[in-house]
Amino acid sequence: MKGIILAGGTGTRLLPLTAVTSKQLLPVYDRPMIFYPLNTLIQAGIKDILIIVAPDHSGHFLNLLGSMFQKFGVNISFMVQKQPRGLAEAYVLAEDFIDGEATTLILGDNIFENDFSEAIQTFQGGGRIFAKEVSDPERFGVVELGTDREVLSIEEKPEQPKSRLAIVGIYIFDAAVVEAAKGLTPSARGELEITDLQKHYLDQGKLDVRTVEGAWFDTGTYESLFEASAYAREHRFSERFHPMVNDALGEFNAEFKKIVSLKK
Ligand code: DAU
Repeated sequence: MKGIILAGGTGTRLLPLTAVTSKQLLPVYDRPMIFYPLNTLIQAGIKDILIIVAPDHSGHFLNLLGSMFQKFGVNISFMVQKQPRGLAEAYVLAEDFIDGEATTLILGDNIFENDFSEAIQTFQGGGRIFAKEVSDPERFGVVELGTDREVLSIEEKPEQPKSRLAIVGIYIFDAAVVEAAKGLTPSARGELEITDLQKHYLDQGKLDVRTVEGAWFDTGTYESLFEASAYAREHRFSERFHPMVNDALGEFNAEFKKIVSLKK
């Protein structure tokens, strides 16, 4: 299983916070946002991770993460998405990285309390997505389930949602996702939609939907960014990170301080 973190986009909804750096590097309490999705993947045992970034702030990601996990056996590579052409474009860009394996893609601005290890490690093929009940489903991809939990419909940001079940930003697909993504056409808003990929797997009877436990934040607004920070502080998220992530961060900070003191 390989991992992709989608950390591009323009972040215009969070201006001026995103004027000089990327949304996914903004603080969520005591660490940059990207560490939360990174932790979700590492916790599930994924050791090969591609981070897709926008051109303007790519150096910021490299400075922070370029060698942080090297000696911990986690391989992190980077790719630039020149324009935000949609979430599903990640699979087209990452074709060589995916190299015929299954992939877990996580959005760089999604923060989960849930541990996805079991769902990732037991994945056999097809597609697996996750849903959570929310009060504002029109902000998200929405899935409607029948009485036997079969999927009745999937819609991207519907004006009149058929359910309150938002599709959260973590997706597991088998290697066929690359060809499926190549076959998509842009939606009315000009993006390759991740929900169209989900519908492709649904049409083939290969889509499985699970429910997400615990808190979930899409930090795309000032309010949700603030709420995520408050929740992470109150619930001691960082203490619950995978020990390797905390060790890598600790070493990074120590080395950073050493370099600063040498410069004095
Ligand atoms: O948060 C879950 C939701 O994420 C899903 O319910 C929706 O189905 C899905 O389309 C997506 O909706 P958003 O409106 O939240 O997507 P957003 O444009 O905010 O992009 C999500 C992340 O991906 C964000 O960190 C920016 C990054 N991104 C986005 C686009 C469009 C890229 O790296 N490249 C892109 O082309």
